[in-house]
Amino acid sequence: MFNYETIKKIMFKFEPETAHHIASYGLKMLPHCRIINNMMVERNFIDNNVLTQKVFNTTFHNPIGLGAGFDKNAQMIESMQAMGFGYTEIGTMTPKAQAGNDKPRLFRYPEHEAVQNAMGFNNEGSYEVIKNLSKVYPYSIPIGASIGKNKLTPENETLDDYEKLIVGFKDICDYLVVNISSPNTPNLRDLQNEEFIKSIFGLAKKITDTPILLKIAPDMENETAITLCQTAVESGADGIVATNTTQDYSLLPNPQNFGGISGKVMSDKSYDIFKAIGRELHDKTTLISVGGISDASDVYRRIKAGATLVQIYSAFIYQGPSMCKNINEELIELIKADGYDNISQAIGSDFK
Ligand SMILES: Cc1cc2nc3c(=O)[nH]c(=O)nc-3n(C[C@H](O)[C@H](O)[C@H](O)COP(=O)(O)O)c2cc1C
Repeated sequence: MFNYETIKKIMFKFEPETAHHIASYGLKMLPHCRIINNMMVERNFIDNNVLTQKVFNTTFHNPIGLGAGFDKNAQMIESMQAMGFGYTEIGTMTPKAQAGNDKPRLFRYPEHEAVQNAMGFNNEGSYEVIKNLSKVYPYSIPIGASIGKNKLTPENETLDDYEKLIVGFKDICDYLVVNISSPNTPNLRDLQNEEFIKSIFGLAKKITDTPILLKIAPDMENETAITLCQTAVESGADGIVATNTTQDYSLLPNPQNFGGISGKVMSDKSYDIFKAIGRELHDKTTLISVGGISDASDVYRRIKAGATLVQIYSAFIYQGPSMCKNINEELIELIKADGYDNISQAIGSDFK
């Protein structure tokens, strides 16, 4: 329909955050051009029995979701089906609007298909996002809502921030994600401890039956990650999203010394910790794998390591609107080649 390589050349001449605003504007406008939108859904959205599964009481037509952080304010949900995504995760939202960290805070590394960001939960705040989301939900693809604390919320009020967000979003999304793994909010990752995880999921379960998941960072020992995820599941979490961006700056030759790295260079790091978690938990909860995924074989290895669903952010910047279609088509072949009729039969097959 159009050549993404040409568009990318133009977009990459802009500073990354400006390019994101331009792309966001286009994606917000797309649903208003019904004919083009529908043509793109027809072309990019793979709806095939092999990939369709029921998760969290809702139908996922394909397992590739948009990773949190791209659509922070729930303004692009309707165009994500046209981009081929099987579901989308909005946010991370905080109770109050906040501007995020100083700019520049978003960097591309095209030769490594990597991104580095220190956005810091820039978002319009829960009031505005709830308004946006309420107009769209329920939608033809499932919607996850990622929640986080405000930067200026004192430590002893952290749980209150999450409580407000759970109450605000519980009825207007298909699942919630507790984000305590962003490297860009001071001390947020310190919440990745058993005590906080027990408190937050204990609290959430009293408030809602909406599935609620924990998103973790990749920068810890596998054993620590397993313990934290087991604690979350025992405390009522309905799943794990692994992983957020990494602070392993050795992955790029000339990185910034702040923020989190994402994209192809973190694939093995994210996979290794995911597989360790998958080994212990794939038959006990729903696992979503994210971090550096850029092709069907990487999606498939995550599925075999226990992922029910996956997410992609950075590769979408580099591959554009045909990414999901290409990956899903190849994924169907990989699943069939192993003799399975449906993706669900392949989940965790590494451990059987
Ligand atoms: C610019 C940018 C902003 C992000 N913002 C968020 C966020 O708000 N919440 C979150 O949970 N993850 C956020 N992420 C992390 C992604 O959701 C994902 O976990 C990470 O980028 C690894 O996946 P990828 O290699 O496919 O990009 C962000 C990533 C990028 C690149």
